[in-house]
Amino acid sequence: MSEPDDGTFGACAARARRRLPRLFADYIDGGAHAERAVRRNRRAFDRIAITPRGLIDVSRVDLTTRCFGQDWRLPVMLAPVGFAGMFHAEGEQGAARAAAECGIGLGVSTFSIAPMERVAAIAPQAMAQIYVFRDRGLTRDMLARAAACGMDGIIVTIDTAITPVRERDVRNGFRDLARPSIAQMAGLARHPRWLAGMARRGAPGIGNLAPYTTERGVMAQARQMAAQIDPTLSRDDLAWLRGVWTGRLIVKGVMHPDDARSARDAGADGIVVSNHGGRQLDASPATIEVLPAIADALEGRIDIVLDSGVRRGADVVAALALGATAVSIGRPWAWALASGGGAGVAQAVRRLEREIADVMALAGVPTLDALRAGGSGLVWGP
Ligand code: FNR
Repeated sequence: MSEPDDGTFGACAARARRRLPRLFADYIDGGAHAERAVRRNRRAFDRIAITPRGLIDVSRVDLTTRCFGQDWRLPVMLAPVGFAGMFHAEGEQGAARAAAECGIGLGVSTFSIAPMERVAAIAPQAMAQIYVFRDRGLTRDMLARAAACGMDGIIVTIDTAITPVRERDVRNGFRDLARPSIAQMAGLARHPRWLAGMARRGAPGIGNLAPYTTERGVMAQARQMAAQIDPTLSRDDLAWLRGVWTGRLIVKGVMHPDDARSARDAGADGIVVSNHGGRQLDASPATIEVLPAIADALEGRIDIVLDSGVRRGADVVAALALGATAVSIGRPWAWALASGGGAGVAQAVRRLEREIADVMALAGVPTLDALRAGGSGLVWGP
């Protein structure tokens, strides 16, 4: 596949790639090492077929979903995506407005340009994504802030013990942007609309981590704080977190039934089956390939959100048929934000909503309960 397959988000992905400086567009699109997992996520969905069924009343298709204790208009959430405030001046606040307007879930990245407090004020359903830092005092402070600003839960990401080489970022010197080269400055200058937006918004930093960093500028702060992510994170730490955080707790980055059971046994209220969109272990299976075994292991006791490569309504329907409660999308909303701000994100979500409804009507499953009851009998593959 030479061209990337961006599914229903193709137009906004193309626009985002034109509008953003190359190094940000590549940061969004890129994956680890050879980017095999990025492709595998998509190919696994492409291999799935859904059997059409007739003679069923589908005059009303109902996508309403209860997931992670929240009521959503459709089974979709915006995944936590770092640096979103660098993709468009409206940044995370624009995405939060879109999530609130569309009635879907929202994860706020630790590496959010806007502080979590500003996002929570816009979207009451927002959940704070947390990395466990080496300094547990710092982690505790983030949890205290999440509680104080009314975050409706936390999402603990467990697949990021290290950040692997992402070749596009190396090529573009993405992590060296703290001290930009002349070529990098020229690259940024070729995108005056983006530059004007950033200039209007003022000097960027990782607002969500501002209390903890001694560096200035997004990339220097990112480097300092990424080095703080604790690679010793264990089941005991999950139990510790469960003790410290009394609200809803979601574990993200689960790819094995044993990790799913560990999360559940530690008291998690839900998991996100995710290979980080192919950005971490490049040899990883596709998420849709491991979902059935994980759903079996959890026996429906806690909610499962699936992400990584979801690009079409049919992907959402397949994930739900195979045991997910809902899906989340990462790159699609980053592209939509870059190409059209918060309104762009809302438009992209509505397009996905329409596609999910189309597929459910033609598959003869007018409700998500009917879809789940039909289960794997509806789909071929993966
Ligand atoms: C991410 N993701 C991510 N996850 C997380 O827990 N914390 C984070 O800060 C980030 N940052 C981030 C930045 C960018 C640019 C991307 C694309 C992704 C992973 C994200 O939450 C989600 O798991 C994937 O994006 C899902 O795959 P798709 O939808 O991008 O294919």
